[in-house]
Amino acid sequence: MTHKANIVVIGTGGTIAGQGKAASNTSAYLCSVLGIDEILATIDPRSLAVDLRAEQLLQTGSENFGNEQLLAIGRRVAVLLAQDDVDGVVIAHGTDTIEETAYFLHLTLKSAKPVVVVGSMRPPSAMSSDAALNLYDAIAVAAHPASVGLGTLVVANDEIHTARDVTKGNSFKVEAFRSPYGPLGYVIEGRPRYYRHPCRAHTLATPWSAGTLASLPQVDIVQAYGALEAETVNALAARANGLIFAGTGNGNVPAHLIEPLRDAARRGVHVVRASRTGSGIVLHNGAQPDDLYDWLSVDDQVPSKARILLMLALTQSRDVQTLQAVFERY
Ligand code: DGL
Repeated sequence: MTHKANIVVIGTGGTIAGQGKAASNTSAYLCSVLGIDEILATIDPRSLAVDLRAEQLLQTGSENFGNEQLLAIGRRVAVLLAQDDVDGVVIAHGTDTIEETAYFLHLTLKSAKPVVVVGSMRPPSAMSSDAALNLYDAIAVAAHPASVGLGTLVVANDEIHTARDVTKGNSFKVEAFRSPYGPLGYVIEGRPRYYRHPCRAHTLATPWSAGTLASLPQVDIVQAYGALEAETVNALAARANGLIFAGTGNGNVPAHLIEPLRDAARRGVHVVRASRTGSGIVLHNGAQPDDLYDWLSVDDQVPSKARILLMLALTQSRDVQTLQAVFERY
């Protein structure tokens, strides 16, 4: 008899758990109303050779997720992955912040077992909803041996993305998810096809563990524009351990904000130069003399994920060079 993969599907809310009044409601609908059992009932997993178990962990839009929700998801998934009778985990999640949760899990789970985060852009009640197929595909990916050891994956719109790279790049279209170097592969009729692997360190090769993290330090993001005032930057820097400065272009900093950001660094706030463009590299010591100012730079990471990475890094070190090395490694 073929071994059936034991997959746990965790519900947290989002559009994949949403419901509209009419099939034409692709954008106006109630989010996070269907339970995970109701969502699972919309697919027929018999062709996938899986045994499914469902759990409802949260029930809210992912725009409401703070660090507590990240830690709660991380802890629960860590417990499940440690069980011999669990081969993989799927998390049904709102799409708005799927990239943050997935990257947090990618960096903190101590297991090679597949973890797939999945959402949908249209609720199950809408015409041409992507909910059922995305969920079916996510289960197929989590159950497949080829997904072992790849870290946390995000599945949507027939594509498999690494959690490190994927971002939500459109507010309503079904093809909302992008990775700057492309997806890892596709999933077609219940079978993943991989064409490349993540090359940056993750899961078992990181020093962070979702199972033991008790809290995360305060890291904020500020996005640059010409009229951004020093008072705004100072207010954020006054409360944060770290500040991601999403500069224009390749991490440019307006002249009037250089001193406020240097002051923040002198007070021990870790200032990280990023870019608001959504992709590309911020070269260390490129547009600004980062080492001279004790600033960090993100390499190619987007501000939302740079925040996750810096929070984790700050749980272990406050040394500027060690922190910069983290941005080059993960
Ligand atoms: N409120 C949004 C969220 O949970 C719904 C968006 C979605 O899931 O696509 O992230």
